Amino acid sequence: MEVHEYSSDDLQCILHEMNGKYSKRREDKLKLVGCSDAFRCFVAEDDSEISGFVIVEDLGDGVSFYVVQINVNERRQGIGGILMRKAFEVVGKGGHISLCVNTDNDVSIKFFESMGFERSGHVEGYRKNQDKFWYQIDL
Ligand SMILES: CC(C)(COP(=O)(O)OP(=O)(O)OC[C@H]1O[C@@H](n2cnc3c(N)ncnc32)[C@H](O)[C@@H]1OP(=O)(O)O)[C@@H](O)C(=O)NCCC(=O)NCCS
Repeated sequence: MEVHEYSSDDLQCILHEMNGKYSKRREDKLKLVGCSDAFRCFVAEDDSEISGFVIVEDLGDGVSFYVVQINVNERRQGIGGILMRKAFEVVGKGGHISLCVNTDNDVSIKFFESMGFERSGHVEGYRKNQDKFWYQIDL
């Protein structure tokens, strides 16, 4: 397993091969990575196949970052952990990371809590009929 910084060569593979389904929102976020320094993406690759990615946004105050998306192809193989630790490394000691997750996404909640994130808020109606928990960690 190796982790590299996203390049536009990864776009089609992430969009059409990962999880076997296309996501317009994912494409929009990856395009942000390509056109703004505030967004960085790290891609996990195994035997030349992309197995996951994480997108991190620099919120611009020198310490605060936001996890926009994290996704893996095969769950519970340690890939999400590798990607999140890469994000921790890039953000660095003293950095603050926040994220939000659907309140019914029990797997991701367990994952983020296992990585040391603590629940910091609850938003009702993030989308219609969709609530979010906010999480944060100080590195
Ligand atoms: C959330 C996600 C990225 C986690 O990635 P992953 O590669 O499966 O996670 P890991 O294998 O590195 O798991 C690390 C730890 O998280 C916890 N964890 C992960 N999945 C879990 C599950 N299904 N049940 C309980 N704990 C779980 C465990 O503590 C695990 O450590 P362990 O396997 O040694 O017990 C993955 O589930 C995913 O892609 N989900 C779909 C996309 C999504 O919802 N993203 C989050 C919102 S943006």
